[in-house]
Amino acid sequence: MSIKQALKNTIPTSVFNYIRDVPWVIRDWTTKSPTGCGPIPSLKLMFDGPRDYELFLKQGRETLGFYKNIAGMKPDDAILDIGCGIGRKTIPLLDYLNSNALYVGMDLDRRGIDWLLRNVTSQNQRFVFLQQDIYNKFYNPKGALIPGKLVLPFPDASFDMVVLWSVFTHMFPEDIAHYMSEITRVLKPGGTLAASYFLYDDEILARMQRGETKSNFNHVLKDCRTTNPNIPEDALAVSRDWLQSVQDQVGLQTQQLLMGAWSGHTPPQGLEITNHQDILVAKKR
Ligand SMILES: C[S@@+](CC[C@H](N)C(=O)[O-])C[C@H]1O[C@@H](n2cnc3c(N)ncnc32)[C@H](O)[C@@H]1O
Repeated sequence: MSIKQALKNTIPTSVFNYIRDVPWVIRDWTTKSPTGCGPIPSLKLMFDGPRDYELFLKQGRETLGFYKNIAGMKPDDAILDIGCGIGRKTIPLLDYLNSNALYVGMDLDRRGIDWLLRNVTSQNQRFVFLQQDIYNKFYNPKGALIPGKLVLPFPDASFDMVVLWSVFTHMFPEDIAHYMSEITRVLKPGGTLAASYFLYDDEILARMQRGETKSNFNHVLKDCRTTNPNIPEDALAVSRDWLQSVQDQVGLQTQQLLMGAWSGHTPPQGLEITNHQDILVAKKR
């Protein structure tokens, strides 16, 4: 186990995060952010993924390609991005979505939402952001809302597409199942859910045992596995069969599954960063 993982597993998350951010605050003082590429957050704010301007922009280009060519997003679609973070997958849509479109970004972390409101909504009123105080032991240990009871604050059949990037990978199976049911409710008939997961089956578990996967979900919990037994929401994996049964229950049909690099698969060209996790595209029946 690395020193970083050992610290993560033992000290309170808020203390870990504070220590983790210090070098990045110094980097922000001493580094110039790129210009002419749309709004871009500070390295300190990029705590939810790689803290690197080039990777931020590259992943944005990858995601836009995925939205257009694989998920079938149209310029006038209504999009809901649950767990939008700091907008890694939002910024690339600024030039793509037209004035008939709607983009709603939702997250439990106020820092990202505040930055997006100041830097995106202020320029583009069709991009809307809301923060909800949802409990998550890793991201929001004092959150008041229980994820398994959350009602998405939108009428039925509101969205053409719902996306969740690296969000279900921090949620327990019963909460994912509840979100799936709510997502299906707010999707229009024929609408698309694109989400990333850590998915396992017998073959992947065998690879994991041989040490051939990039993450080791060795700790077995109910219907899932984690890398961190103290804070399981740090990284959670679910089985492909379990996910299929939830999709069947809520009325979603798989369109495409892109297995991720984390378990030894080779992502398609142009999705090298984004397809580290498994990406599943499903349609509402
Ligand atoms: C790894 S980050 C990914 C952020 C963003 N989707 C991206 O790809 O850059 C996970 C995000 O999910 C959010 N999150 C975690 N649990 C959530 C929940 N139950 N509902 C909504 N958002 C959640 C976290 O606050 C965090 O911003």
